[in-house]
Amino acid sequence: MAILRIRYETGEPEQVLEFDPSQAPFQHDGLPGSLLDIMLARGVPLEHACGGNCACTTCHVIVKSGMAHLSENTEEEDDLLDKAPGLTPTSRLGCQAVMSEGEVTILIPRYTINQQVG
Ligand code: FES
Repeated sequence: MAILRIRYETGEPEQVLEFDPSQAPFQHDGLPGSLLDIMLARGVPLEHACGGNCACTTCHVIVKSGMAHLSENTEEEDDLLDKAPGLTPTSRLGCQAVMSEGEVTILIPRYTINQQVG
């Protein structure tokens, strides 16, 4: 089993999801086994304006620990992340970061491009 801890910059309570990575994909948005895939399947919302196709930045998350348990960033992901508000050295796109094992903690930023425009 793997564990995904989700914290919120807005102060909402932490969520802890336990799952079996070998069962991915869990639903249809984002890469199989991605943070987005895991969260949506458990009813934990994460914005995904482009449907998890690496074409927006609304699924921006900040990895607080466990980066080694996530897939490597692709150049495409890094190019998009450059446009994300509040970019940090450990920022990832939830639809592209695939979790294979272990424990990962992420922080959901307060703002995404969608929320800033709206
Ligand atoms: S949902 Fe659009 S880039 Fe992840």
